[in-house]
Amino acid sequence: MSTLDFTGRVAIVTGAGRGIGRAHALLLAERGASVVVNDLGGDTDGSSPSAGPAEQTVADIEKAGGSAVVSTASVATEDGAASIVATAIEAFGRVDAVINNAGNFRIAPFDELPLGTYQAFLDTHFFGSLMLARAAWPHLAASGRGRIVNTVSAALLGVPDMVHYGSAKGAVYGLTRNLAVAGAAHGIKVNAVAPGAATRMVELTGDSLPPGTIEYMREHMPPELVAPVAAYLAHESCGITGEVLTAAGGLVNRMVMLNTAGIHDPALTPETVADRLDEILDTSGAQVAALTVPDPAGS
Ligand SMILES: NC(=O)c1ccc[n+]([C@@H]2O[C@H](COP(=O)([O-])OP(=O)(O)OC[C@H]3O[C@@H](n4cnc5c(N)ncnc54)[C@H](O)[C@@H]3O)[C@@H](O)[C@H]2O)c1
Repeated sequence: MSTLDFTGRVAIVTGAGRGIGRAHALLLAERGASVVVNDLGGDTDGSSPSAGPAEQTVADIEKAGGSAVVSTASVATEDGAASIVATAIEAFGRVDAVINNAGNFRIAPFDELPLGTYQAFLDTHFFGSLMLARAAWPHLAASGRGRIVNTVSAALLGVPDMVHYGSAKGAVYGLTRNLAVAGAAHGIKVNAVAPGAATRMVELTGDSLPPGTIEYMREHMPPELVAPVAAYLAHESCGITGEVLTAAGGLVNRMVMLNTAGIHDPALTPETVADRLDEILDTSGAQVAALTVPDPAGS
């Protein structure tokens, strides 16, 4: 296997001032990419923005001989997304890969959060990823090897006190699948990473995790063990689309949605569903739910 090289390629990484995004940016730059290091630089709720984190990542990339520029725009606004892409074009003239990684986080019971908080989580995670993908789309198509790497979370599967966050990540999952279909005609591949790494975001979960979990994550699950998966998905040699890869402490696996074999009964009644529920739910013989990619020849 030849080394995955990004020389001559331009990547945008959002939320790259800290944690996982910073590791993505450092790895891509080390492999030769010119990187737009985007980060709002605020607290976990988005307040108190600061250029400091993005500037630090850029300084570290340049110190190592790489090429990068700072963007402090918020992904959560259309103007912010346009400005991130404009920064890439002004500095480097093209966009080959977008890693949508920026995210905010908190833990709270479903019925205690105001609706505005749900909107804010959608704005950052879902609309942030969507708006940047849209702004970068023509450049990714022009690249001929455009790649989008979104960031989901195991929280989309359902965990306590994360309805706001897990639902927003579920929306990013649907975005990934549907953009993969939309991108097929343009050579754009769209996948997602579901990370697990010791960052300030995880430190926030504190008391809600079993004793010893954070200590274990600090020792065994650095952001640098998520970045190789994002780098592969961002590389022109990536041959998959619409997939989610979990990346945590060296573990990499495929997260899939399944269709079970189920039942077929033309005389279906509610009682049939109740009586045959075990068969309906049985995953033996299940098939991975496939993307519906239009045939470009129309045949
Ligand atoms: N750490 C984990 O185990 C874990 C697990 C599942 C998913 N994730 C996801 O991974 C991504 C990175 O998280 P992390 O753990 O590195 O967290 P982090 O808080 O260390 O880093 C997130 C970065 O995103 C930036 N950001 C937030 N809102 C922004 C906005 N509107 N515009 C631009 N930048 C913004 C923040 O300033 C911060 O630097 C997030 O999408 C998160 O939801 C992380």
